[in-house]
Amino acid sequence: MRTHVSAPYSQGKHGLACDGVPLAAIARDVGTPVFVYSAQAIRDAYTGIDRAFADYPHAIHYALKANSTLALLRLLRGLGSRADANSGGEIRVAFRAGFGPADIVFTGVGKTRDELEFAVAQDVGTINAESPGELDRIAAVAVAAGRTARVALRVNPDIDAKTHANISTGLRINKFGVALEDARAIYRDRRDLKGLRFVGVHVHIGSQITSAEPLQRAAQALAGIALELRDDGVPLEHVDLGGGLGIPYEGQPMIAPSEYAAAVLPALRRCGLPVVLEPGRAIVGRSGALVSPNASTIARRRISCTRPWSRNRTSALVGCTLTSTRSGGSSMKRCTSGLRSLIVATL
Ligand SMILES: Cc1ncc(COP(=O)(O)O)c(C=O)c1O
Repeated sequence: MRTHVSAPYSQGKHGLACDGVPLAAIARDVGTPVFVYSAQAIRDAYTGIDRAFADYPHAIHYALKANSTLALLRLLRGLGSRADANSGGEIRVAFRAGFGPADIVFTGVGKTRDELEFAVAQDVGTINAESPGELDRIAAVAVAAGRTARVALRVNPDIDAKTHANISTGLRINKFGVALEDARAIYRDRRDLKGLRFVGVHVHIGSQITSAEPLQRAAQALAGIALELRDDGVPLEHVDLGGGLGIPYEGQPMIAPSEYAAAVLPALRRCGLPVVLEPGRAIVGRSGALVSPNASTIARRRISCTRPWSRNRTSALVGCTLTSTRSGGSSMKRCTSGLRSLIVATL
């Protein structure tokens, strides 16, 4: 089997190490199976994107679907990240990690009525709607709750993200969002709907995108529709460019944050609105390892742990003192190993 090892991982004389700490030592300390994440790698990934957009108003809403381990979320929140939640469950996890309602964009296809009621009752920052039907459902929920929901509509710009077909979401044949050319009429027809306030427009063309060109085109489409909506008198507060930045799995070159920013900022400057970014994989995808006693054990555990996975997971910041504390309903286990900067999640 061919394996590719890249920072923060390295092969040392004690086997695979994360930030120089042998995974075998962590396994000895806390048992297996265990997920190990390099806090430094997460910091670097987050700040890389943040710095690339430093001279333009922006907010990074880390996509929890990439990994919603509490310790990791708290680390990101401490760096200034906000949250992209994809379900009612993820909104609750975001709260447990200390994010406030205003920090959250609620995205995703197939939001249930319960989830919409929860999001509206909690007054989350923005609900990204996938369709006119969903806008109507949000409006009905908000009116019933005596509230006004801040919403953005997801547009589908018919752009090929040039990624795997199953994670491409920006083509007309994909089920996501409304056709770009229909968006203006949908905003116009619903802008006075009780219970709704349009604050943004959203696009997400896919994941594991490895060239800047599709993202550039998505930004151009987003800025274009935002300008049209401005002409129509819709007072938008932001545009949301989604996530999608790829990471190397075989050591191949990837889009650097600076390249990403250089590709999308000219279009964004044209519309002048602050941008929301929803990266997931690019923030955490290179940071983690799953350490297992052997493959067959993991396969069994994986199946049996699918549903209560997050409930039973224990997060630990290695390198702190040995105590157990309860934190937001999950137990934070702290280890004596003297290791620094690693987040350890045991099952
Ligand atoms: C709407 C939306 N935003 C953000 C993301 C995060 O994408 P990525 O992890 O590729 O950055 C996804 C992933 O599916 C998504 O659907």
